[in-house]
Amino acid sequence: MKKVYITTPIYYINADPHIGHAHTSIMGDILKRFLKMRGIDVFYTTGVDEHGQKNQASTLMSGLPQAEYLDQQSTIYRSLFEKLNISFDFFVRTSHIGHKDYVKQVLNELFRKKLIYKKYYEGLYCLGCEQFKKPSDLDKNGLCTDHKKIPELQKEMNYFLKISEYQSWLTNYIEENKYFIQPPVFKKEVLAMLEDPLEDLCISRPKSRVTLGIDFPFDDDFVTYVWFDALLNYISNLKLNFKEESEFNEYWSNSIHLLAKDIIKTHCIYWPILLKLLDIDPPKSFQIHGFWVGEGGIKMSKSLGNIIDPKKLQQEIGTDAMRYYLCSKMTYKDSQISISLIKSNYEADLANNIGNLLYRACKFTFKNFNGKIPKPGKFDQREKDIHLFLSNHIKLDFKQLSLKVAHDITKRIIIIGNRLNKYFNDVTPWELVKDRDRIEELKAILYTVLDGIKILFELAYPIMPNIANEVLKIIGASKIPDKIINYEIKVGKLKPDSKMLKPKIIFPKLN
Ligand code: MSP
Repeated sequence: MKKVYITTPIYYINADPHIGHAHTSIMGDILKRFLKMRGIDVFYTTGVDEHGQKNQASTLMSGLPQAEYLDQQSTIYRSLFEKLNISFDFFVRTSHIGHKDYVKQVLNELFRKKLIYKKYYEGLYCLGCEQFKKPSDLDKNGLCTDHKKIPELQKEMNYFLKISEYQSWLTNYIEENKYFIQPPVFKKEVLAMLEDPLEDLCISRPKSRVTLGIDFPFDDDFVTYVWFDALLNYISNLKLNFKEESEFNEYWSNSIHLLAKDIIKTHCIYWPILLKLLDIDPPKSFQIHGFWVGEGGIKMSKSLGNIIDPKKLQQEIGTDAMRYYLCSKMTYKDSQISISLIKSNYEADLANNIGNLLYRACKFTFKNFNGKIPKPGKFDQREKDIHLFLSNHIKLDFKQLSLKVAHDITKRIIIIGNRLNKYFNDVTPWELVKDRDRIEELKAILYTVLDGIKILFELAYPIMPNIANEVLKIIGASKIPDKIINYEIKVGKLKPDSKMLKPKIIFPKLN
């Protein structure tokens, strides 16, 4: 069986989780569930980045002992992700001893290979990005384009990694590998970045300034630069969990890094070169999504009061409805989010479309067929057309796995909901039930609708796992276990005569 490794960025613990953090980790979970249903063994990691200057500042501000603060913050992330039903296989913490040891091992290897050198450096440092910036990275007022702040001038001795020599190797690799950076708009962006000369990467911080980091194994005065350490989590996780080299290779050769567009330079430029220096192949692909912004396209900020707290949102609309919004509305562009946008999308897609279909069809069948799935006899052309339509919508191309596949599912379930709602209205079951001679026709119709509902929720399972299983139970089908590997979605698999549960409203109207 094929193995796939899915990762998300590891998030800075200096603040509480943002809706964007929840988003990427939910998308990883959706892809994992999607692949597992299709017979693929997935190892999925998400977690936190506990080092660097930014985290150091918030640790100091907290007044707590360092280890206590890191435990507290990483628990906040971990419990949110558990609440959001994110089925990670390993929760990453860069304070893990195994990770630290791996980073030190890598530093020693690079030092031995003479790929690291020390030099005096002056540069503009953006704390928000935890990166040195070139003047060309800043806007016309000299501000960081992401954080809108003037970077700080740093003058110090540091260690550098010889990455500049690999600029043309990377450019060629990106150009030749069509699916390496997806979607293509970001491939273009990275190639444009590579038109500027690439400088060697500063990979240390003097302890006089930064202490929250991994000690340099060959120089006591330095800790490792946070990004150098953080990127290596993608390898240390696998090494910690799979001791056999063959298993490591199987996962790594199908590794998919999910991230948003804010961190493409570190991922798509520094990371493949670092791997090259370690004689490790590049990851299979980077799957990049856009940014969540407030309604009207305005950046979210505390002062504007348009921040969406993922924990509060989960409590307000529930895990699955939240997962649905995030998955259906995000593309590679900036996407808007606000409570009112979420609520109107919920009403339109979930309550009025899918929820309405489900409740009407189940209630009607339950009442008129003794709470059992009707046994269909002959299907008319009208039903056969629905079966064909459903078969066509089950097929999803995921040979080149991308985030788009998850987005496509949300579109398909709405199309299926619309079609089944229309079919149910057109065939007027409430009229047919009055005519004893048409009972067989009615059975075939209701079976077709309920079987269609089954398919709709099987498709939706990766996005709304709890609700999908609740619906499957209502229509007398078995639930999809979390550990599922290989699950066939096919027309006509709903078992006639299965006992239904008393229908209830799955997507209640919101206040
Ligand atoms: N610690 C680094 C990542 C190291 S990975 C080896 C970091 N952390 S972060 O906390 O800033 O997280 C950035 C990531 O969080 C984004 O790439 C994205 O996955 C997610 N998001 C945070 N805010 C976001 C939005 N407003 N919109 C969408 N996702 C964003 O960078």
